[in-house]
Formats: sequence, C-alpha cells, structure tokens
Amino acid sequence: MSTVPFLAEFDSNSQEFFLAGVIRPHSVDEIGSSICIFRKAIDDVRGVLYINIKRLVQMNNTAFQAFARVVLDTCRTRTDLRFVVVTSSVVGWTEHMFKHLSSIEPRVTVEVYDSGFYPGQSFVEDPSFIPILRTQTKMTWRHERTILPRHGMRRGIVMADICCGIGDFALLVKKEFRPGRIVALDHSRASLAYAREMAASFDVADIEYTYGDASEMLLEGNQFDLVTCRHSLQIFNRPDMILKELFRICKPGGRVYITNEKNSHCLGEPRSQSIQWTYNEVAKLFSHFEMDVELGPKSRRYLTDAGFDDILIESFMVTNLDGDPQDFADVIAAWENVYVEEMAVRRGDSSDFIERFRQGFRDHIFAALHPKGYAGWPIWAASGRKPS
Ligand SMILES: C[S@@+](CC[C@H](N)C(=O)[O-])C[C@H]1O[C@@H](n2cnc3c(N)ncnc32)[C@H](O)[C@@H]1O
Repeated sequence: MSTVPFLAEFDSNSQEFFLAGVIRPHSVDEIGSSICIFRKAIDDVRGVLYINIKRLVQMNNTAFQAFARVVLDTCRTRTDLRFVVVTSSVVGWTEHMFKHLSSIEPRVTVEVYDSGFYPGQSFVEDPSFIPILRTQTKMTWRHERTILPRHGMRRGIVMADICCGIGDFALLVKKEFRPGRIVALDHSRASLAYAREMAASFDVADIEYTYGDASEMLLEGNQFDLVTCRHSLQIFNRPDMILKELFRICKPGGRVYITNEKNSHCLGEPRSQSIQWTYNEVAKLFSHFEMDVELGPKSRRYLTDAGFDDILIESFMVTNLDGDPQDFADVIAAWENVYVEEMAVRRGDSSDFIERFRQGFRDHIFAALHPKGYAGWPIWAASGRKPS
C-alpha cells in the first residue's frame, strides 16, 4: 500500500502537532527541523498540546527517542503543560509505543480516537450487521450493474471501494467489469474478516482488503480513476470528512460514486400506513444516533460542496418484483432484527413503541410476499468528477 509522505506540522488553532508518514532517520540530525517545529509548538502552547499521530505509518527507535526526550524534558520544566497523544487503531503499534511514555510520565496521556469515534459505530461494526449487508447488495446489484458504467466504471481502471463492508460489491465488480486494481477499505474488523473469507472461498486473491478509517486514510492522493462509497456517508456522523478524503484519493478527472437512501420513502401496498409510519421512525431512530438515512437526495449538495463538478444523479427503486420476492423479504427481516432489537432497545423505547415499530416491518414483508403486493426501497446513486 502506498502511504502519505513524512510530515511534521503544527496547527496553533487546534494546538495540534501532526506527525505523519514514515519516519525512519539514521540519525537524529536528519529530523532536526521536525524536532525544531515540535519545540516551537511547545513554546507556543499552554494547557494541552495534542500530538496527532493518526497517520503515522512507521517510526523507528531513533525518531521515537528523539521526540520522547523532548516530551520528558518539557514535563520536567513546564508544569503548565500536558501532552495528549492522539493515535488510531489503524496504526495500532503507536498506541503500544506511546503508552510506554505515559506510564513514565503522568502528564502524557494516549487516546485511541477511533475506538468510539462515531455514534453508530457499535451497531455497524457488530457482526449482527453482516446479514443486512449480505442481503442488501444482492438486491441493489441488479440495478447498479447497469448504472455504474455511466459513472466511470470500465475495464482496467484503478478503483477503491471505501467503506466496503463485507466486500461483496468489490467481488461483483471484479467479476463483471475487470478493473486493473481494487482496494476495498473498511473500519469493521468483523466485516473485513468476512470479506477476506468470502474472497478466499471464491479463489479471488487480488482485492486489497484494507483496515482503515475513511475519514483519515493512509492511501496516497490522486491515484484512483473511480472511488465508490456505498450506503456509508449516511452512517458516519461527518459525511463531509469522508467525502474530502474520497476527493483526495481520486485522480483529477476521475469520479467518486456514492449511494445513499431516503428511508422515510420506503413504501408498500397493502398496509401502506403502517409501513410508512415505521420508516418515518427509522429515519428518526438513525438521527438519534447521528446517522442521516435521508441523505440520498442531498447528494448533489454534498458533492458540490466537496468540490466535484459534472455531477450525475439517478435514483432507483429496489422492489419485490426485481427477482424472488423472498430476497426483498430477507432484507426487511434483517433490518427489523437490528433496527428493532438493537437500536430501538438501546434508545430505550417503550414496549408499545417497539411493537408498533416492528409491525411496520412485518407489514412490509407481508406486502413483499403478497401475490398482489408491491414493496419498494428507494436509493440515490450519484457521482461527481474531480476537476482536472
Ligand atoms: C451500511 S454499511 C455499507 C457497506 C457496503 N458499502 C455495502 O453497501 O454493503 C456502512 C459501512 O461503512 C463502514 N464505515 C463507517 N464509517 C467508516 C469510517 N469512518 N471508516 C471506514 N469505514 C467506515 C462501516 O464499518 C460499514 O461497513
């Protein structure tokens, strides 16, 4: 995997000193200027100095000792200052290394920022979410396989699927469109383990499944012809941060393709009112956990604000008539399971509410399987071009 270059920078607004990339000097002199920036940051700051190493890919002992020495010396002379080292599980070794420092010096603390970094994380990264992803992609692929070429998908491209979940989309794309390279990144270890297992059982060896945070990726900029990010901006509480990263890794002239929902527009006949009520409540439930499952029609605004041009948007409706109605019923049952049993319960909803909430999903399944019924799930697929 290619990585960001070595960087040492201070932002006085946030009192943050950034170290990123690969820092492997043979002697301390080689990193003299970075140490100087660090010392100057210390002189400028009172209270807390944050040391942000979320993107520190490698650091050898020479560099660690040099920075550690400055920290320890400062703690001896400056009682007004403490250090908070902000690390990420994506570069897991840093936590271990810097925890050692905090065990010697109590005014140094270490925070792993992505251990609870977005409110929906505990649901989405739980293995119980996997059945939702498995059943959804089966339904959406029928539509997306015809949509994708209009958004930049073609043979031989270099592409990334960011927030890839269980990696099934990457597998389908590989089979159908034969890109030259695919990187598939997610922050759920359970989903990635599932993805790797599935790829191995299909004898596919060259999808680069990668553990990472989409809002702070270690991937180098300007390298992908197409970056896809499906059903995920709506899950992360800061979609603009993810889009900024998708923009960064996309090649100038390349495209970023996103799909998102508007859950309150899920529909069904018969029993439409109960169905409508429940999906309105789904939107409210997600918003309680700072997720916006109404994001679909906002795609144009998000893509424009992120700097894309030539924005294309289309919407499609997954329905019970797309294939075997049971497939759609399975999707709804998977939603019911997590949204009712885990999310509504976690929010502390009453048993009356839960019963009515559950009934809407049951009615949606009834509509999907009814010989004269119709059930739908609308999705917005949008893409923008990174200006050349
Ligand atoms: C609703 S799922 C969609 C997964 C997949 N794209 C699909 O359509 O099946 C959202 C995914 O986004 C991932 N995710 C959310 N925030 C993330 C972040 N900041 N970095 C990486 N992955 C993230 C979750 O782990 C989850 O797998």
